[in-house]
Amino acid sequence: MSASTLQKSAAPRPQFHILADAATVAEAVAGHVARALAAKPQLTLGLATGSTFVPVYAALARRHRENGLSFAQATTFNLDEYVGLPADHPSSYRTFMRTHLFGPVELPQGHGFLPGVEADIARACAAYEAEIARHGGLDLQLLGIGRNGHIGFNEPFSSFDSRTRQVELAASTRKANAAEFPAGEAVPPCAVTMGVATILDARQIVLVATGQAKAQALASAFTAAADPACPASALQAHPHVTVYCDEAAAAGLADRQAGG
Ligand code: GLP
Repeated sequence: MSASTLQKSAAPRPQFHILADAATVAEAVAGHVARALAAKPQLTLGLATGSTFVPVYAALARRHRENGLSFAQATTFNLDEYVGLPADHPSSYRTFMRTHLFGPVELPQGHGFLPGVEADIARACAAYEAEIARHGGLDLQLLGIGRNGHIGFNEPFSSFDSRTRQVELAASTRKANAAEFPAGEAVPPCAVTMGVATILDARQIVLVATGQAKAQALASAFTAAADPACPASALQAHPHVTVYCDEAAAAGLADRQAGG
């Protein structure tokens, strides 16, 4: 895809920050979140999981410890959770969030929401959307990207109109996420995820991608027409998207702007 094709796109362009490596990306994303919290301490913040966010959350935790970055008035909503794992399972996203962010930044009890995966899931999904609305909608949504272009657990061919719901995970996603599970334990076949439309309702979106394994997905998301085959391409229609990526993940972007 050529640079001119990129520029012809009618949709608003995301702002790209292409940085040297994952550690630099993590600091930059933490800085972005810190600025949002400074501007609005009662921030409603959408959160992602995955290995990309481990250094991002470590950077936020360090700012909390050393610079007094406060989450005391913030409320957070996670993108997704596996169906069928108890909350205290080592690979649940609830455990991930407690370990990597909620504990380290001392998020007040009751301020960190994840989609419900017990009992009546359809009802829990509707309640999640209502809870986000009750908090005034998402001010800032953090997103990773799957190797197949998924955002949250919206796998390829998810409708751009989709809302929080139960989904089946792609075989490639279950394989990619197997490393997060204890040896010999299968990745659950289903998850609950915010929908693509739920994500697009956020007033601002930050997409983070690091490593060569994300280069193809990032290129598909932003250098071709938006297509449900690549759910992240839905972000092309959003007016306020910032992409933080490292050089390796940016390899497929035709008209790269270096630096941040
Ligand atoms: C996971 C999560 C996504 C995450 C993506 C990338 O499956 N559901 O929200 O963005 O896959 O994960 P990682 O950062 O580990 O590559």
